[in-house]
Amino acid sequence: MLLLKSTSSSLLFLFTTTVSALSSALSSTLQHIPTFGPNPRNVSMYIYVPSNISSSAKPPILVVPHWCHGTAQAAFDGRPYATLGDTYGFISIYPNSSNTADQCWDVSSSESLTHEGGGDALSIVSMVRWAIEELGADKDRVFVTGTSSGAMMTNVLLGSYPDVFAAGSAWAGVAFGCFAAGAGQYDIWSDACATGKIIRNGSEWADIVHAAYPSYPKDAFRPKMQVLHGLNDTTLYPQNLREEVKQWTAVFGYDVKVYNETRDTPLKGWTRYSYGEKFEAYTAEGVTHDIPNQADTVMDWFDLRCKGEGCYSRRTR
Ligand SMILES: *[C@@H]1O[C@H](CO)[C@@H](O)[C@H](O)[C@H]1NC(C)=O
Ligand SMILES: *[C@@H]1O[C@H](CO)[C@@H](O)[C@H](O)[C@H]1NC(C)=O
Ligand SMILES: *[C@@H]1O[C@H](CO)[C@@H](O)[C@H](O)[C@H]1NC(C)=O
Ligand SMILES: *[C@@H]1O[C@H](CO)[C@@H](O)[C@H](O)[C@H]1NC(C)=O
Ligand SMILES: *[C@@H]1O[C@H](CO)[C@@H](O)[C@H](O)[C@H]1NC(C)=O
Ligand SMILES: *[C@@H]1O[C@H](CO)[C@@H](O)[C@H](O)[C@H]1NC(C)=O
Repeated sequence: MLLLKSTSSSLLFLFTTTVSALSSALSSTLQHIPTFGPNPRNVSMYIYVPSNISSSAKPPILVVPHWCHGTAQAAFDGRPYATLGDTYGFISIYPNSSNTADQCWDVSSSESLTHEGGGDALSIVSMVRWAIEELGADKDRVFVTGTSSGAMMTNVLLGSYPDVFAAGSAWAGVAFGCFAAGAGQYDIWSDACATGKIIRNGSEWADIVHAAYPSYPKDAFRPKMQVLHGLNDTTLYPQNLREEVKQWTAVFGYDVKVYNETRDTPLKGWTRYSYGEKFEAYTAEGVTHDIPNQADTVMDWFDLRCKGEGCYSRRTR
């Protein structure tokens, strides 16, 4: 359990998780990598590499950006992905924001919102590229999941780098570009977005995604996306889930009115809306911004328990 304080108010957030990672039980330790390529925002790189994986196994990569007032260490301790990486053979990367004021990610600058444009997004992508180069990780099985600011960054990374990621899982975030504030506008909190006042239609939201990387071919692989949100979230209002739904269904060309609905999954009061293979959204009844992370849901979506050929990857879909 992690206790943290929000930037926008004095609310205390309590981000919980179903499994707790006991570092004593891990096969390896969190390592700091001082240089890893272009890092315009001086983000720090931390990585967990299970001791018994080899580059010949081409391990997948899971990027876990922290929340506001969170740190790489807090995400590493508070999420079970190091333990799961030991069991299933994947690497996890924990970027650490250089924004010591509030540790929120830069999800607002046009640098981050542009392919190869810079910002925190490029710094994080450099970490992925380093792990592919230096550790022989699988470039076709790169995933990202985060909560709150980490979920916003998940949306940003999928939008700006559709060529790098295979899938994302965003817990209580906002649509790509919802915090957009212009060139050099790194440390922005958008109250208008947070309170659900930035409302666009699907084609407007999809245009913002396509503008991040205009030359990316329309028929090229795009990472699939899973979004989850508490219906009682008063920090990032649930309207933000609706905006994410409009955005990603439009990007994937799905009809926003056509979905399969599954109730009480993975928890009672949660509902999954599946719009197709590439996109699903979950509402969580009675859940505040302190959405309890469900590692199983993330592992399933990324197919991260799968080893060998035929696992979900940029190659197979
Ligand atoms: C970059 O971040 C590191 C670690 O937080 C810090 O020690 C260093 O001074 C920073 N460098 C610059 C140029 O800000
Ligand atoms: C990340 O940055 C924060 C804030 O500067 C610092 O407290 C923490 O030690 C850094 N490292 C990790 C691994 O979280
Ligand atoms: C690494 O060790 C874990 C147990 O800690 C085991 O479950 C896993 O299969 C091992 N992986 C490899 C590639 O040997
Ligand atoms: C979305 O909004 C734009 C700009 O306001 C408008 O031109 C377009 O017709 C709208 N599209 C749909 C599908 O409503
Ligand atoms: C809903 O489920 C059915 C049966 O599995 C499937 O054929 C259909 O494509 C699904 N529709 C959507 C929108 O996911
Ligand atoms: C969630 O919001 C509903 C409707 O506003 C309210 O009745 C309920 O008490 C809230 N639940 C929690 C857990 O805050």
